[in-house]
Amino acid sequence: MRRKLAAGNWKMNGLAASVDEITALAGMVSDTTVEVLICPPATLVHRASSAADGTPVMIGGQDCHIAESGAHTGDVSAEMLVDAGAAYVIVGHSERRADHGETDAMVAAKADAAERAGLGAIICVGETEAQRDAGDTLAIVETQLSNSVPEGVSVETTVIAYEPVWAIGTGRTPTLEQIAEVHDFLRATLAARFGEDAANGMRLLYGGSVKPSNAAEIFAVSNVDGALVGGASLKAADFGAIVEALNEAD
Ligand code: PGA
Repeated sequence: MRRKLAAGNWKMNGLAASVDEITALAGMVSDTTVEVLICPPATLVHRASSAADGTPVMIGGQDCHIAESGAHTGDVSAEMLVDAGAAYVIVGHSERRADHGETDAMVAAKADAAERAGLGAIICVGETEAQRDAGDTLAIVETQLSNSVPEGVSVETTVIAYEPVWAIGTGRTPTLEQIAEVHDFLRATLAARFGEDAANGMRLLYGGSVKPSNAAEIFAVSNVDGALVGGASLKAADFGAIVEALNEAD
């Protein structure tokens, strides 16, 4: 049985006072059976994990370097995220791929670094609008999945997030049929590579303009085990409602 996961990605948003949203969220989700994760900017990971200590809310990073330490100005390692209280890290978000030129190989190395440090890795894949219009969606996510998910990953700690680039921050979402098509395909592709049991143990999140008003219908789609939420994770009331919708989904 896969445990559902509601993950929030604050991106480059949040100052010290924003940690109050995590305290508020913790109060809203005390009875939930799903995993609840907030990934604030690196500057807030420690403060957020202190605020979330003893609550069901887990804290994660948004990226990590492949090395444990060294001369890499501005970077943060997976071990440093663990040290600051993180349980997960997002790797290969489309904004990292686009803004920082991260390749599938780099993303796979980051997922390996996460595993080395004992962090869960949320590995992101997803097509651009032009790629969808060209009919290439499944081919694109298949290549990203093959090359961004390292060999020998552990099922329990590896999460795949399908995030169509054109749905991120736009208010637009794929149809439920389109989400089902990609998620079923991801599960089958993982099964072909890692075997049925391993594939059935991995969580598949949908991401891109998830909000309280569309969460329930998205969570009813086959092979959707949760969500990676950007904008709607910034406010405890919105994200708490999304967690509740996931908790109530079958
Ligand atoms: P959004 O972002 O929910 O604001 O569309 C999702 C994401 O990029 O993870």
